[in-house]
Amino acid sequence: MRKLLNKLLVKFGLLLTNAPGLLVDHSLKTSSSFPAKLTERVKLEQAKNIPDNELFKIFLAGSNIHKWHHYFDIYTRYFERFRDRPITMLEIGVFRGGSLRMWKEYFHPDSTIVGIDIDKSCQAHEIAAQNVFVRIGSQADPNFLANVNGEFGPFDIILDDGSHKTHHQIVSFAALFRDALKDGGCYMVEDVHSNYWLRHVDSPETFIDLTKQMIDMMHEPYFDHKEIEFRHNHPEAIREMEVSYLSANLSSIAFHDSIVVLDKKKHHLPQNELR
Ligand SMILES: C[S@@+](CC[C@H](N)C(=O)[O-])C[C@H]1O[C@@H](n2cnc3c(N)ncnc32)[C@H](O)[C@@H]1O
Repeated sequence: MRKLLNKLLVKFGLLLTNAPGLLVDHSLKTSSSFPAKLTERVKLEQAKNIPDNELFKIFLAGSNIHKWHHYFDIYTRYFERFRDRPITMLEIGVFRGGSLRMWKEYFHPDSTIVGIDIDKSCQAHEIAAQNVFVRIGSQADPNFLANVNGEFGPFDIILDDGSHKTHHQIVSFAALFRDALKDGGCYMVEDVHSNYWLRHVDSPETFIDLTKQMIDMMHEPYFDHKEIEFRHNHPEAIREMEVSYLSANLSSIAFHDSIVVLDKKKHHLPQNELR
């Protein structure tokens, strides 16, 4: 019923930012194998929530940054590998500029950090002499994103900390993952809990819904094929096939509390071997 209503609203152009409550389904659907009614109590334990890593220390010493504490272990896990060389990073959402300055301090000093924001006042957070740049425009505007990519890209890391509206997360990913992210790069979307918050859901499918589809796309080479067709040196082995761009380039999707991480790496056809 909800899906049908979504389709009708989209068809008649009625799906706008303040989507009606009907669009968000808050029920937790679970299999009977791990039923949601088996519950446990979780508590706020502040002392245990404090991350112990260098990035968090930079955050604590900084100002005008807004980040959830539990993100710092996740950033460290995925960004540490980029620290030994100059990189180019794009952050969607500048706010008061604190996060741009934090990334500048965390990554190699010759790195370029680019922030984009719809709010013109964010331009004041550019520090061009330190390769920290700000461009003003909307993350929902593919032409603006293409211009930013033309000027600074392609990027090693793209972090979406912008409006957190589902439509924006989807448009930005569609515009940037293919054209603006390097092979070997990392695309991170944070605050995806917004996909469960009414006022942020402004698309018929949320970004989280799409990532679930991406899991299927990653497995596209296996559709309608047998194991033997991927056997090392086997006469029936497939040598080449046409797959979707995401199937060919998305090496992993990781889900964390409120963060989705998409690593980009060009695939080869998988193969197996019986020894
Ligand atoms: C959560 S804040 C960014 C926080 C910042 N990255 C930090 O860690 O301190 C979100 C920012 O997204 C910006 N924003 C909202 N809609 C946007 C859009 N359509 N395109 C680009 N930025 C947008 C807001 O102006 C705001 O500055």
